[in-house]
Amino acid sequence: MSSMSAARSTPSRSRAMGFAMRWLLTMLPVIGFAADSASAPARFEGVASCASSLCHGSARPLSAHDVLQNEYVTWSQFDPHSSAYRVLLEPRSRQIAERMGLGPAHKAPQCLACHAEVVPAARSAARHQLSDGIGCESCHGAAERWLPTHHQSPAVSHADNLARGLVALEQPRVRAEVCTGCHVGDRNRFANHAMMAAGHPRLVFDLETYTELWRTSGGREHYRKRSAQPPAVWLTGIISATRRQFELLDAHAARSLRADFSVYACHTCHRDLRVAAFGAAEAGASRAVDPLAGAPGELRMQDGQLRLLLVIADALQLDSRELTAATRRLQAALNRDPAQLPAALSEVRQKLEALGAELTRRTWTQRESRVAFDALLRAARSGSFPDPAAAEQAAMGLVMLLAELDLDRSRSAEIDALFATLRDDNAFDGRRFARVLEQLEKSAAMR
Ligand code: HEC
Ligand code: HEC
Ligand code: HEC
Ligand code: HEC
Repeated sequence: MSSMSAARSTPSRSRAMGFAMRWLLTMLPVIGFAADSASAPARFEGVASCASSLCHGSARPLSAHDVLQNEYVTWSQFDPHSSAYRVLLEPRSRQIAERMGLGPAHKAPQCLACHAEVVPAARSAARHQLSDGIGCESCHGAAERWLPTHHQSPAVSHADNLARGLVALEQPRVRAEVCTGCHVGDRNRFANHAMMAAGHPRLVFDLETYTELWRTSGGREHYRKRSAQPPAVWLTGIISATRRQFELLDAHAARSLRADFSVYACHTCHRDLRVAAFGAAEAGASRAVDPLAGAPGELRMQDGQLRLLLVIADALQLDSRELTAATRRLQAALNRDPAQLPAALSEVRQKLEALGAELTRRTWTQRESRVAFDALLRAARSGSFPDPAAAEQAAMGLVMLLAELDLDRSRSAEIDALFATLRDDNAFDGRRFARVLEQLEKSAAMR
């Protein structure tokens, strides 16, 4: 997780650029924005439509309404999404695109899919511009039908707005699907292995951690935090990300001769030749029985999130055996029997939804947060998150749970030490990770 840069300049918005962009849009594939209820798809009005100082472009937060009204200013100056397009003009992006033979990154549909608001020309209103990057409507939905009236509360209710295409981001599941569409990928948006090998950062996502990082980017709030239950939101994000992973497998593995390498855990290939089992024996650690381990040397799919779900389900005494078994069959199909992949995927998706419904239905108490924290820590210590990506997923969850238990501030040294072990994938050492967790365990046990 790189840190967000503090200050961002305002997006360029010249007329000529806008014209060129709209022309370009006619050549781009359509991506899956939330469906609107009415028949003809609503148009995207562009961030400029929200930016009036009387609307969301106030220089400072206002108190006349529930909303802060300075969202546009916060977005344009501090939100990483407002510079997502500009990043494509930078040398790093140019290099990635050059290595892939794509031509300029800011014109490549493969890059724009996640770094801008790509919509067909017919859905792009006069002020909508590709160069604005990821604008308000990328998350809140195409505004044509709700924009003119959405501020007329109480005459126009939230339900009315939703019926006109506003996205219900207050619902964790809806928000999770919006974020993971880019931060994990979906059928139409794919950060494949060629991109990674050409220099794209490995994608990381945790709904609670990333929402807070983003919501407060630059030390400004996008909206006032609500009192949803963080552990429930966290699990909703884990489930959504796993759902997206299966979507990627379906789109990029089930119908091809060889699955794109990016669907696998990067570190099943990118690692040294030390035999993992020996490493654990050396450190004297007792390695937990790994329910998702395949035969020695098999490729493992990206399973950090699944591993986390299974640990939490067990901790809460939910039956995770069916999801475990289905995941193992999926792994086996990927490795040995591609013909079985569609059936294995459909089974594992069903099991994920079943367990996911149970996991997200419950109300979290302090006691459950404690039980989940202890179980996750124990699992992470004993090697259940065997690569840096999976370990990072566990660490983000642990820190969220520490905050729930109100132990985060007093354990900031241990938390820093934990993230220090994760700073560089290439220097990741499972034994060092386990030792730091041992410290955290001792310290958290003292309350
Ligand atoms: C599936 C969505 C997706 C696709 C496709 C995609 N990106 Fe990204 N890109 C992201 C996300 C999400 C991040 C932020 C990663 C993070 O920090 O977790 C990112 C980050 C980056 C960064 C680092 C930015 C920074 O501020 O550090 C660069 C550079 C980049 N992308 C370039 C490209 C280029 C060039 C392409 C096309 C070859 C591309 N991206 C395609 C989603 C995508
Ligand atoms: C990366 C996604 C994203 C982008 C981009 C984004 N928002 Fe938001 N916005 C959210 C989420 C998530 C919430 C919280 C929704 C909730 O919990 O009710 C939110 C909340 C808000 C709220 C408060 C709503 C309320 O009922 O309290 C306003 C107003 C708002 N956004 C306006 C904007 C404007 C204007 C822009 C563009 C300048 C923008 N947003 C860009 C995701 C986004
Ligand atoms: C349309 C695609 C898209 C959507 C939707 C989206 N993001 Fe992003 N996000 C990106 C890209 C691309 C970047 C990298 C931008 C850059 O570095 O300039 C990014 C960057 C971020 C970062 C900064 C990461 C870092 O390492 O600095 C956070 C945090 C983040 N997004 C959270 C969220 C959350 C939370 C949501 C949902 C409410 C969300 N994003 C929705 C594409 C998206
Ligand atoms: C199935 C095995 C496999 C998996 C899984 C895999 N890679 Fe690779 N990766 C390779 C191979 C093979 C190469 C090419 C090595 C070479 O050129 O010497 C490569 C090259 C790379 C390179 C360029 C290295 C260089 O020296 O130029 C990067 C970066 C990279 N992969 C990142 C990733 C990331 C990130 C993931 C996970 C999303 C991943 N890989 C998953 C096999 C894999």
